[in-house]
Amino acid sequence: MRMLVTAGPTREYIDPVRYLSNDSSGRMGFAIARAAARRGHEVVLVSGPTALRPPAAAEFVSVMSARDMNEAVRRHFPDCDCLVMSAAVSDFRPKRAATRKIKKEDMGESIALTRNPDIVAGVTRNKGDRVVIGFALETDNAVANAMDKMRRKRFDYVVLNSPDVIGSKEGSVTILGRDGEERATASGAKDSLARTIVRVAEAAHDERSKR
Ligand code: CTP
Repeated sequence: MRMLVTAGPTREYIDPVRYLSNDSSGRMGFAIARAAARRGHEVVLVSGPTALRPPAAAEFVSVMSARDMNEAVRRHFPDCDCLVMSAAVSDFRPKRAATRKIKKEDMGESIALTRNPDIVAGVTRNKGDRVVIGFALETDNAVANAMDKMRRKRFDYVVLNSPDVIGSKEGSVTILGRDGEERATASGAKDSLARTIVRVAEAAHDERSKR
């Protein structure tokens, strides 16, 4: 397969030295890219800023903001067989990014925000036969929220994880299919979770190729 994987946080600058972001380490996405390459897939890894070394076996596209990531995903999606959207995309960005550092006296008490594009929902409008695996991080009503996200964003599978997975080296995931059925569960090191996710992608792609 040609697999497109996204990873890490995005960074939304307020001025040249301040930004909005989140705690994503990028480990999950990098582990998926590595696991996929090891299984012989052709991998493009699009990542926001992380402290990790890009896997040598993948084509690496480094991005900063959600809009940069959107552009990279839109560019590579048409050529892929499978998208694994594990990036923790910032939902908002400052309405205006100052080109010079804002003096604190001029900052005011609030920052006006605007919504970022929903990257995965945008590309899945023309999904074709591609296998799309999305992620959902939920604190309450986890399964119902994840299922709703999968329908709205047209995923084939949703990887449900809990907030303690963010920034950590380990975690546990439940992978749900569109029928609500549990396709796989795994817990442990992210490398092992990654292998489970790649296997689900392979099975879905095989099923589709047989049709
Ligand atoms: N996602 C995306 N573009 C965004 C936000 C999220 O493509 N602007 C993707 C994520 O990479 C993930 C999935 O959508 O695969 C769900 O992300 P999540 O942050 O849980 O969803 P949100 O739509 O932001 O929902 P919530 O209201 O729960 O924050």
